[in-house]
Parts: sequence; C-alpha cells; structure tokens
Amino acid sequence: MDKIRIVGGIPLYGTVNISGAKNAVLPLMCASLLTDKSVVLTNVPLLSDVTYMNSILGGLGTEVFNGSDIINGNVCKRYTYKTTDILSTTVPYDLVRKMRASYYVLGPLLARKGEAKFSLPGGCTIGVRPIDIHLSALEQMGANIKIQNGYIIGKAQKGLKGANLNFPSPSVGATCNVMMAATLAKGKTVINNAAREPEISDLAKMLNSMGAKISGAGTSVVKIDGVNDLGGTIHNVISDRIEAGSYAIAAAVTNGRLELINAEYDTLVKPIDILRKCGVSVEIANNSLIVDATNQEITAHNIITAGYPGFPTDLQAQFMAMLTLANGVSEITETIFENRFMHVPELIRMGAKISVKDKNSVIVNGVKNLSGASVMASDLRASFALVLAGLAADGETEINRVYHLDRGYETVEKKLQQIGANIQRIKEK
Ligand code: UD1
Repeated sequence: MDKIRIVGGIPLYGTVNISGAKNAVLPLMCASLLTDKSVVLTNVPLLSDVTYMNSILGGLGTEVFNGSDIINGNVCKRYTYKTTDILSTTVPYDLVRKMRASYYVLGPLLARKGEAKFSLPGGCTIGVRPIDIHLSALEQMGANIKIQNGYIIGKAQKGLKGANLNFPSPSVGATCNVMMAATLAKGKTVINNAAREPEISDLAKMLNSMGAKISGAGTSVVKIDGVNDLGGTIHNVISDRIEAGSYAIAAAVTNGRLELINAEYDTLVKPIDILRKCGVSVEIANNSLIVDATNQEITAHNIITAGYPGFPTDLQAQFMAMLTLANGVSEITETIFENRFMHVPELIRMGAKISVKDKNSVIVNGVKNLSGASVMASDLRASFALVLAGLAADGETEINRVYHLDRGYETVEKKLQQIGANIQRIKEK
C-alpha cells in the first residue's frame, strides 16, 4: 500500500484550485441513469470514488465518455454519460464494498427500470451507517424490498408512486436517493425533515434542468412532482467545500497564507466563522477565499458537528488537528456519526493532548508543537487530518493506508507541493 511522507514545519504559501465536490458528483453521476439522453458533467474531480462509480455505471449499461475543459487555466475532467438502456440492474459486492455512496444507483434503477439488486454498501469505517431511511422511503413509494445473501433486492414493477415521507433524521444520502427516485414516480412526493446540504441543491438544479419538477431543495421540505421522462443536460459540479475547508486549515496550522480558488464562502459560513474566532483571517475575494495565519497564534474553540448549515462532520477531524496546536482547551462533540474519533490515537502519537470526555466528545488541550511519527489513516477525512498534523509537526511523518485520501482529495501531494510542502508519495513496490 502507498504511504505518504511529510517533513513538517514549512509555512504554506500560494494558490490552491479547489476541485468539484465529491459528495455532489457521485449522485449527479447516478442521476444520469434516469434518462436515455446524454448527461454531461464538467468540473468532475479526479478521485478514485469517481472511477469506482464509473465502473458501477458501466456495468449497468451506461456508456462513459472521457473529456476535459480548461477552467481558470486548469485542466478539469468532463464526463459524458449515456444510458440508452439499462442492461443490468445488479451491482456486485466487489464494486459496492469500496464505496458506500454506491447506494445512489438504487433510486434511479427502481425509478427507470422497476428493479435493483445491489450489495449492502461499504465505505469509510466511521460508524454503523445503515440505509434504513432510504429503504423505508422507497417502500412507502411502492417498492418491495428484501435483503437476501447480503444483497438488497428492490422491485417496483408497476412503477414508483409519490408519497408523503417523514424522515426520522435528515439523511443526505436518503434525500438525494429519494429525490432521484421521485422524479419519475407517479404523483407528488414530499420529503419532510430533508437534509439541506449544498450538494442536494446541486442535484436538484441538475434534475430540474433535465425536466424534473423539484422545489424546496436546500430546505427541510422538498417537493417533487413526478414527470414521465427526463432529458439530457450539461451541468457544472459545485466546488468542494470540504476540500476548501481542509486547505484553509493547512494555511492555519503552518502559519501560512493560501488563496483558495473556486472556494464558495456561502457553503462554508460556519467553518469560516470558527476559523476567524480561532484567530485566522479569512477574506472573501472574487471567486476565491484568502486564508491568512502568518504570525498568528491559533486560539481554542469548541465545536459541535451538525447537519448543514451547522458545522460539517466532514471537517471535524481536520479542525481537531488544528486545535491540538491552539492556545487553550477545546471541546469537540460529534453528533452525526458514532465512531468518528479514530484519528485521536494517531494525533496523540504525534504529541497531541486529547482525552475522551464521553462517547461523543473529546477534550483537546493545545500543545506548542507536534512531532512527526508513523501513523495510520482510518478514513477519508481522518487521513487529511493526519496530513495536516504532519505539515505542522517537527520532523518526519509517515502516513500509512493513504488509499482513503485518493477517494476524496484530488492530486493531494501535487497541490500541497505547489504551495511549498515537503510531501512525497512512496509507491508500493
Ligand atoms: C453523506 C456524505 C458524508 C457526510 C454525511 C453527513 C456523501 C457521499 N457522503 O453521507 O461525507 O459525512 O453525508 O454529512 O455525500 N443514517 C441512518 N439511516 C439511513 C441513513 C443515515 O441511520 O438510512 C444515519 C447515519 O448512520 C448517520 C446519519 O444518519 O449517523 C447521517 O447520515 P447521512 O446524512 O445519510 O450520511 P451519508 O449520506 O451516508
């Protein structure tokens, strides 16, 4: 397995181009299953999760055409998806186990073909992460769902029908999945207690450009009037707010100054508010954010994760890496996932002072310095937290199991090298 080696202690300066959002592109790709016309996605990030999803779609009968555009002087991926007919409705375990978001094929397959069989999903090991909300909603829309030999088998031979749904909690995945399924259902679907993440609004925007009738995406009540069919479209994927937040912390922990091109302030209001309260300057410029922590001491701050527009769980590990070096004591509470502190022991190996308060909270006592060590990445965002700790630490850090990073951070070493980091990938022999 590849490793990443970092020699820390170098302030980072320059510009970083923020890529298209992983959590937006995956459902957008699956939405292409809803039509026999071409769906073109631009600003697609070069991530292993996108490659996995391309394989899944290819196995269902989608033709995937590869291209590129120049955006702000950078080459960005463009993919065209065309599913003239769905040739298979089965997604095998081998593909699904690599990526939890493969559940996004379920809604479109049931809506367009009336059946779907796919293995129960894998993905990051950050909790139990059931998909009961997705399945219960699809059942209420008329699908018959059973679990057999590790596979979920869904059937809706007479088509899906609209339903009034009350989600027990606002799941991002279930909101997107049901929104896609409901576009081709008979009648009106209402999702009450929907999630409000920007990636959901981006999906609704694309579906509407294909002829869907969705209103309220980005609020807690989403309404979808089913239509008979959808057409093709060209859609530009929104920028990745989690990648932008992660690089903002890279500036903060190294006392550097970074301009984050394409970062969207509107999707990062809460994390930026906290960064500013921690003493980091964040300026909103034309099409970018400028994060400046030169000669700046980081001060402690408490964090509680929440659904959007609250503080994102996907930035919790990276902020914790920063707060290990803050002046004072911070409490960090994780409310979305039950097992999302696996980076804590690794940060402690690097000299951080973190104690567990209870199942959902840790106390971080800021220290003056971290020191490089060999550490193990446990999930996607935790991996970047260890990169951040390595960039700030004295000496050399070696991060093992970096395949998680490639799932969600486009060309991570290249982007960091361009702003002055001493970082290398050691290829597996
Ligand atoms: C998405 C994001 C992930 C992010 C998370 C929360 C993608 C591909 N992934 O994941 O990066 O961390 O939102 O912002 O977009 N739950 C259930 N039953 C369900 C569905 C969810 O109990 O059927 C629980 C989950 O276990 C979790 C919580 O609800 O505790 C939130 O999950 P959800 O919003 O669905 O996250 P994902 O869509 O999996």
